[in-house]
This record gives sequence, C-alpha cells and structure tokens, in this order.
Amino acid sequence: MKKVDVVLGLQWGDEGKGKVVDVLTPDYKVIARFQGGPNAGHSLVFDGDGFVLHTVPSGIFRKDSVNIIGNGVVIDPVILQDEIEAIEAKGVDITGKLLISKKAHLILPTHRMLDAASETAKGKGKIGSTLKGIGPTYMDKTGRNGLRVGDILSDEFIQRYEALKYKHFGLLSQYKFPFDITDYEVKWFSAVENMKRFTFIDSEFAVNRYLDNDVPILAEGAQGAMLDIDFGTYPFVTSSNTMTAGVCTGLGVAPNRVGKVMGIFKAYCTRVGSGPFPTELFDADGERLRQIGREYGATTGRPRRCGWLDLVALKYAVMMNGVSELIMMKADVMNNFDTIKVATAYKIGDKTITDFPFECPNDVEPVYREFPGWKEDITGVRKYEDFPDRFKQYVAFIEQETGCPVRIISVGPDRNEIVVR
Ligand code: GDP
Ligand code: IMO
Ligand code: MG
Repeated sequence: MKKVDVVLGLQWGDEGKGKVVDVLTPDYKVIARFQGGPNAGHSLVFDGDGFVLHTVPSGIFRKDSVNIIGNGVVIDPVILQDEIEAIEAKGVDITGKLLISKKAHLILPTHRMLDAASETAKGKGKIGSTLKGIGPTYMDKTGRNGLRVGDILSDEFIQRYEALKYKHFGLLSQYKFPFDITDYEVKWFSAVENMKRFTFIDSEFAVNRYLDNDVPILAEGAQGAMLDIDFGTYPFVTSSNTMTAGVCTGLGVAPNRVGKVMGIFKAYCTRVGSGPFPTELFDADGERLRQIGREYGATTGRPRRCGWLDLVALKYAVMMNGVSELIMMKADVMNNFDTIKVATAYKIGDKTITDFPFECPNDVEPVYREFPGWKEDITGVRKYEDFPDRFKQYVAFIEQETGCPVRIISVGPDRNEIVVR
C-alpha cells in the first residue's frame, strides 16, 4: 500500500519547495497542497521561463499529473483565477488536472481588509503578513463562521456571504479602517462562478482511495516549520500548521499513511516579514546573499532578510517533522564566499543553549562554526562525486548534526540544476 510522501520547508519559507515538487512530480501521480493559501509563492523554472504558483500545486506543469487543493488550504478565488489563466496561457489544459476540496475555506474580500486593518493597528509590532487575508480566514474557520468551497453550490451561498461580510464590516468599523471592496467583490463573484468548472471533491476520500489503489501521492507544504502556528516564532508566524502533522488534518490521511518526509532547507537562511531571526546578517555578506540569491519575495516582492544557516532551528524542525531525508537548496549562491558560518548554539546572557527557545530575545548571540568556502562554481555539477571536497565537508557536517542524509542538492533555479544522490 502506498503512503503519502511529504515535501515541506524547514526554515521560514521560500526554501525552494516549488522547484523540488516540480522535479519530483514525475515519480508521483498526485500532488496535493494541505495548508496555507495565496501567501505562498512557489517558483518553478523550466524551458528558460519562470513561473510562480500561489494556490495551485507545483505538479501542474507535468503531463498526466493530478493536482489537489486540500481541505486545509484557504482559497482566494480571484488569485486562483489569475493563476489558472496564467497556467492556461502556457498551453496547459488545467480543467481535468485540478481538483478542489469542498472543505477548503474561502478568503472573502473582507478577510483581506481585516488582515490589513489588523496589521495597521499593530503598528511597529506588525507580523509582516502578506495581506492576503490568511489570518482572518483561518480565524473564521476555527470560529466556525467560515464559507467553504462546497458552499458555493448552495442556494444560500449569497445570503451566507452577505451575513459574514456584514459581520466583518462591524469589525472593520471598530478598527476605524477605511476600505472599499466594490471592485474586488465584483471580480470575486466572477471568479467564484469560474471555479464551478472544476470538480469539487471530498479530498479525504479521493486521497485515501488513490492510496488504496497504489497511486503515489506527494504532499506539498507551504511556508516553513519556523512559521508554524504552534511551533514557529509566535506571534510572528502564519495561521496554519505548516508541518507533517498538517498533512493529516489538511488532507484527511491518518498518520500511519504518511511515508517519506523530505525536509527542504537553504544552505543559508532567509526570512521575510517581522520576527526573530538569530543568524540574520546586517553586513556585506547578508547583502551578497540577497543579491546573488535574488532574495526578494515571490508573492510580495519584499526584500528577504538573509543570514547564516541556523542548525538550532533546523534540528528543531527536523525533530518535529520526523524528517527522513534532507534537500539542500541554493548552495550555489555561496560559491564565492571565503568563509561560511553555521550556528550550532545560541548564547543568551550567560547561558548557551541548543534547544530552540520559547522566546528569542534581541540579544541572542549565535555560536558559529566556520568552514572555508569551496570557491568554485558548482552550478554545473550533476553527480555528487563531482562536488569540491570543501562543499562535501559542509554537507557532511549538516548530516552529522541533524542525523539526516542530504539526498538532493539543488545548484540553480532550473528544473535540471539538481543532484540526486
Ligand atoms: P518556495 O516558496 O519554497 O517554493 O520558494 P520560492 O520560490 O519562494 O523561493 C525560492 C527562490 O530560489 C526562487 O526564486 C527559485 O527560482 C530559486 N531557487 C530554487 N532553487 C535554487 C537553487 O538551487 N539555486 C538558486 N540560485 N536559486 C534557486
Ligand atoms: P512560501 O510557501 C515566506 C510570512 C509572512 C509573514 C508571516 C505571516 O512561499 O514559502 P501571512 O500572510 O501568512 O499571515 O504572513 O508569514 N509568510 C511567508 N514567508 N514564504 C511564505 O510562503 C510565506 N507565507 C507567509 O511574510 O511574516
Ligand atoms: Mg515562496
């Protein structure tokens, strides 16, 4: 019997999940998103062209793949519609390839406004949300007020939409937040109408039946472990469980039907938005990582904060996700660095710790281990043996510290720039 294999981010998002899912899709028939929504921006590069996906799983460009948006996902119909049009413009016939869970929640135009109002009210303490309405939509889900994809087909859809909208108007007036949803609401209803051409499914039955029939499934995470609502750097997190546990609740599969867990990390670290980032660099090295790595948000275009690899955070993420193998991304960005640093512990006051703490104070001081840079262009490498020895030493150290093999190494943005061991 097949199990659901999982690809997920181990840092603060943007590890390269889109690329890896696109690369792995030929080994799977079904690709499924289980949480998050259009806050995600997953980049794919192939045939000399780039593409960013927000809601649609990253298997969509591969022939014969089935792509499921699971119940744990939140959907903005307008963003989904734009994405669908862009995919179709590439000549892909998406209608039969995309299945949407009836239980996925809808992001209303007013959810976006509430997100913006909440962030404005927080002032300096803002989360740095992508402003896609993610937090307010998950709040309505757990508050048992939400609208789901399956509700689109109900005769009462408009009434329920209006009721929730007016509830939101009340909240927005408390925030004294000026807003106008007129244009967006028109687009929203037109996009909702368009969604009806797709099959709405009970994804829990679909996924389990695929497994019963030995069809391999890959679950695609969004965001990363350090943005998890429970275990991330709260409150500077997203509003869903970004971890392996989220696969069970976000698709309807039991824990004993989860197979391999592939954890993705960058050879350094980035974060976009506010919140703790112990190894963040404010110097020329940080700027070099941002420029060479093109570290600007795929969803918002914001510059990403950059820093050294953080093994305290990575080991925490490996532990909680039950990672069985690691995938290392973007090492090529550090090709010309003389020295590469890795944090192995944090110093907080007179204490040195290796367990990721409840709170990261501003004065947390990473304890670094230094490695000599490999100073060679590794972009063209396709076999592990061909990597420079200094690079292999860096990989071996990460494997030793995390207790996990690094199975795949990505050496450039393109689909073909990959080394599988
Ligand atoms: P995701 O959200 O995890 O899918 O990651 P993003 O797409 O937001 O960000 C990853 C960025 O790095 C994208 O611009 C990718 O095209 C790019 N990328 C992915 N893998 C590599 C790699 O190995 N090397 C380089 N230089 N860029 C990469
Ligand atoms: P992918 O899937 C990086 C961050 C935001 C903000 C916080 C909360 O591309 O890796 P939200 O809009 O969810 O309320 O924002 O989480 N964030 C991401 N950072 N990659 C993402 O997705 C992110 N999705 C949300 O910047 O700090
Ligand atoms: Mg991204």
